[in-house]
Amino acid sequence: MTQSEIANHKHKILFDTDPGIDDAMALLLALVSPEIEVVGVTTVFGNSHVEATTRNALNLLDLAGRPDIPVAKGADRPMVLPRGQTGEFVHGDDAMGNIGWTAVHNPDQKPLDVPAAQFIAETIMAHPGEITLVAVGPLTNVGLALQLEPRIAQAARGVVIMGGSVATPGNVSPLAEANIHNDPHAAALVFGAGWDVTMAGLDVTMAVRMDEDFFAALRRSGNRFGQFIGQIAPCYQQFHRERYGYPDGGVDTHDPSAIAYLIDPTLFRAERWSVVVPLDGPAMGATIADRRGRFWTTPKVNCLMQVDAARFLAMFQARLTA
Ligand code: BDR
Ligand code: CA
Repeated sequence: MTQSEIANHKHKILFDTDPGIDDAMALLLALVSPEIEVVGVTTVFGNSHVEATTRNALNLLDLAGRPDIPVAKGADRPMVLPRGQTGEFVHGDDAMGNIGWTAVHNPDQKPLDVPAAQFIAETIMAHPGEITLVAVGPLTNVGLALQLEPRIAQAARGVVIMGGSVATPGNVSPLAEANIHNDPHAAALVFGAGWDVTMAGLDVTMAVRMDEDFFAALRRSGNRFGQFIGQIAPCYQQFHRERYGYPDGGVDTHDPSAIAYLIDPTLFRAERWSVVVPLDGPAMGATIADRRGRFWTTPKVNCLMQVDAARFLAMFQARLTA
């Protein structure tokens, strides 16, 4: 494709996020990718409380030289349940790898006056058929936006989430992935709304490992985005070593998978199934897929099931070292 063809096919995305080390990796990958235009960032609790994830979002955009991208602060608790444990034990006290992000670096940068759900609803309705929602945290803001303006389900171009799992054990309970478990009621709304939802869940995100050689190459490069990812990675590497016993400084590649799907869907093999989210009990927050395709008639979700890990990692590394 020529540069102008790429520009015409660009995905205009709203990035809903709880930064978060892998959220930062995903956002920086989006910002360097010509296939993607980030039109706004919305924040949610998850890897920390929402004040911290909003601060991190503002600092990431400042670091990236993109303070022009609006940030809207969102929910600090799930739609129905009380908030569970936030993710500092994975992502560090500042949820950014313990690099001391305790304040907003650029005092001129402030979140918008409107809450995230309203910003999501208004942005999608102002650009019918154009906006793809990429949600890589708990789905609370998206659920609230659907309640506020149900027509976004027809007006959005699509939704890509990092969350859930079809055939891989959970990472916060035997069956559940963290983002869905953090707000199962919101997830149930998102899966049931009838829009085009793609789920980048643990089936693919735990099948791609960035390791110490990978991060060392980012650090060695002259690319300041890559260097920053190399700087925040050690905390995430330590968590994966302690929790899963991963060798060689390996980490899962969660949130960048949602962006990689938009950049190049041929990296993945997908299957379409109805997905149901239990709201309580031992399976709370699981994403149960009707893999025989014969039991449920609820909207089909595009579930990413396999990934070409080598090609994904090569693409990521090339873009963050260039
Ligand atoms: C998800 O949970 C968060 O910790 C990560 O940022 C990712 O979005 C993985 O289960
Ligand atoms: Ca996240």
